[in-house]
Amino acid sequence: MKPLYLPLLLLLAACDDGGGAQADPGPTADAAIVADAGVEEDAAPVVDAAPVVDAAEPDAAAPAPLPALIGPAAAEDEDPDPKVVAVTLTAGRHANTISDRVEVDGYAYNGQSPGPVIQARLGDEVVIRFRNDLDQPTTVHWHGLRISDDMDGSPRIQAPVQPGETFEYRFTPPEAGTYWYHPHVRANEQVELGLYGMLIVHEPEPPAFDAERVLILDDILLQGDRVAAFMATFPERMHGRSGNTLLTNGVAVPPTGQAREGQVERWRLVNTANARTMSLSLEGAKFRVIGTDGGLLRDPYETRRLLMAVGQRYDLEVTYDRPGTVELVSHVLVLEGEDVVERPFVVQTIDVAATGEAPHTVTLPEVRPIQRGRTNENAILVFDAVQDPVEGVMWRINGQSHPHDPIFTFQQGDYVRMILDNRAGPEHPFHLHGQFFEILPDGRPETEQPGLKDTVLVPGLSRVTIFARMDNPGQWMAHCHILEHAELGFMSEIVVEPVDGLSPPAPPAVP
Ligand code: C2O
Ligand code: CU
Repeated sequence: MKPLYLPLLLLLAACDDGGGAQADPGPTADAAIVADAGVEEDAAPVVDAAPVVDAAEPDAAAPAPLPALIGPAAAEDEDPDPKVVAVTLTAGRHANTISDRVEVDGYAYNGQSPGPVIQARLGDEVVIRFRNDLDQPTTVHWHGLRISDDMDGSPRIQAPVQPGETFEYRFTPPEAGTYWYHPHVRANEQVELGLYGMLIVHEPEPPAFDAERVLILDDILLQGDRVAAFMATFPERMHGRSGNTLLTNGVAVPPTGQAREGQVERWRLVNTANARTMSLSLEGAKFRVIGTDGGLLRDPYETRRLLMAVGQRYDLEVTYDRPGTVELVSHVLVLEGEDVVERPFVVQTIDVAATGEAPHTVTLPEVRPIQRGRTNENAILVFDAVQDPVEGVMWRINGQSHPHDPIFTFQQGDYVRMILDNRAGPEHPFHLHGQFFEILPDGRPETEQPGLKDTVLVPGLSRVTIFARMDNPGQWMAHCHILEHAELGFMSEIVVEPVDGLSPPAPPAVP
């Protein structure tokens, strides 16, 4: 049987369900379970600890101020203790304003979608007083934070918060970086309806950018002014739900911002779409990638295109080296007649006022190199799909949909080479909770993603190798971040057993 190999489509023109528009030959049905088999030994790189930002000189007095934040409203810190950030977060129904003309009946945190930007400094304790005002259970997952598993929002550990009930999340993020939060119950619906937000953990001495701009990139599938029915079409089950409207910070029309020639900003990007991989370019300014899922990079790099799977983050340094208009462009595959063509959609514009000033240089903190050692464990994860009489398709990981038992058990400190073997046509952004990993580059854009990651794009019918150091003990979800795939079986768990004498990840001691 010929496997499916349809690219992800953005059906921008029409809102019809598109059911049957493509002749789907159906998923590959040949089951294959491969576990720990035939992996040759080599001295491949493995991830040691996350990069540690060297603490700056101790300054007993007030910490350096945080750069101005441009983006969704930030959460208010309700705790006067400078080492504690306490935030009330309430999930509830909300009419989300997408544009002048469209207001959709959706969900929001604290009455805003995206939810409030939660900001902490490395070393701060974060307390989230969560309340569920939805009419269904939910949890909050802190995507990318390597905290303890009982605070991770995993419904395998935490009983979901029932309507009208509360839960207090409490954690101390061990690394600075750009993270996000979202529900982990019926995530395909709750995220699409508006439950997602950014969480920033600032470096001890944040680099002196003129501003930090939060860009939460998403799409939504609208039918008129309603969110289209969920899982209603075969393409949605097969490829995940592709929206017909791109959103930036919750808004459809490309938002416009202001800046001045000579300024340098840090842009924090996250892709919160249910399924859409974004291919981005930035026109009209100089930029380079300075950070990713695991925080700042030791070696920032320049690129023309930024490939961003759902769940991933990028930090960019954007230098306004000339006046005029800056555009962040999302290059989208669109079906035009019989042809799939790439079309540019502007998702953010910045008007840069002329000043005649040359850009200044922002000094970035020194980041330690990623420590590499020897692999002591190997794992093969096979992704495929089978036809299902009820759901149409069920996704599988190592031959099982929603495996109940952990698919792997490692010891804390294990260096694990994982081969992610995608035997189906659609791509899978694989996400591992609780740990970071490195992607082994092999010349494809999906794997040319330096730094520490928690999400990696595995293209259709191909393999990607990652190296993870399992240094955070606990029960960790390992799943596809295409939320429909996760709901339809691509959801598993990995256990990391604690080892006496090893401590879980913790922030570096800051004097
Ligand atoms: Cu952002 Cu388990 O996910
Ligand atoms: Cu998937």
